Amino acid sequence: MNVTAIHSKLLGSTRAIAEMLLSEIKNLSPGTEVREFVVAGFKPCAGCFSCFAKGEEYCPHYDDVHPIVTAIEESDVVILDCPTYCMGISGAMKSYKEG
Ligand SMILES: Cc1cc2nc3c(=O)[nH]c(=O)nc-3n(C[C@H](O)[C@H](O)[C@H](O)COP(=O)(O)O)c2cc1C
Repeated sequence: MNVTAIHSKLLGSTRAIAEMLLSEIKNLSPGTEVREFVVAGFKPCAGCFSCFAKGEEYCPHYDDVHPIVTAIEESDVVILDCPTYCMGISGAMKSYKEG
């Protein structure tokens, strides 16, 4: 099984809970491959329309975004974790999710 974990932060209690979940998944399904990314500091969409006009590979953030997109496409399970910030998700996760 392939799992992609998208963490909102490098450290913290939310990340610790996500790691516990990943550990449990690996115990239940030996051989599971996990790819992890952290979206804190992730560059938001620049609104340059390059992806529409020329193709996604022309996105100025392609090198950052492409590995995540590929990992998600190849995953059976995607896990996103985020602490509650102002009754919602963090700005970093919001930027990532809507990018
Ligand atoms: C900017 C900010 C906004 C927050 N807003 C909420 C909130 O609306 N409701 C809530 O229950 N906790 C809120 N919290 C508390 C965090 O969700 C809580 O401390 C969480 O456990 C932090 O997780 P972490 O250790 O992974 O950073 C907020 C914390 C911060 C820093």
